[in-house]
Amino acid sequence: MKKLQVAIDGPAGSGKSTVARQLAQILGYLYLDTGAMYRAITLKALRCGVPLDDEEALSRLAQGARIELKSRPDGGQAVFLDGEEVTSALRAPAVNAAVSRVAQVPGVRRQLTRRQQALGAAGGVVMDGRDIGTVVLPAADVKVFLTASLGERVKRRLKELGERGFQLTPEAVRQEVLRRDREDEQRALAPLRPAPDAHIIDTSDLTPAEVVARIIALVRQRQGGAGR
Ligand code: DC
Repeated sequence: MKKLQVAIDGPAGSGKSTVARQLAQILGYLYLDTGAMYRAITLKALRCGVPLDDEEALSRLAQGARIELKSRPDGGQAVFLDGEEVTSALRAPAVNAAVSRVAQVPGVRRQLTRRQQALGAAGGVVMDGRDIGTVVLPAADVKVFLTASLGERVKRRLKELGERGFQLTPEAVRQEVLRRDREDEQRALAPLRPAPDAHIIDTSDLTPAEVVARIIALVRQRQGGAGR
């Protein structure tokens, strides 16, 4: 069966990573969490004390960073930065607070977009992010844009943070989600928006399994059709 490129975009808390991971596992595809790559660059910048407004230094840092993504048996993805596992560190509030600024830097985006395109070129990939269907894989076979109400996204974010041992108030998380939405949607380069040919799915009242089932149906339709 033809190995497709599946692009899953959407804002923080829309359920992208849970859905993309399960989907990749069912299809036997590679799962690629592109947000983790932006987070890895951000973590490195914070550790090295690079100012977040120094675009040149951030671009250089992205160029020199060795990011490896390794699939786990549970379908998850372990992230290594310059040889060190940083999977949990990438989810820290300090990284959440800084990542959308780092993701606005053209030199950083250029580096990461190129790597993502190379990883997706052969197909058989489920990639989640903000600009996969619009910029990274504009010819993806299946494009999905996930949304959810703000309240639901805050609830999911709080749960994820709690599971990782970070205790934040709902209001703090709400502010962080709103700020990140704004920064991701309003940036000049590769802003968060659905591709014209994306299927928009509101996940507020759906379980991950229900969302996965809908996307599988789109994949099967595509595989049964005339192809790309
Ligand atoms: O999906 P996430 O929350 O882990 O993403 C972290 C940040 O990275 C997000 O706020 C914006 C940025 N990002 C991006 O600009 N482009 C992508 N393809 C993925 C993430």
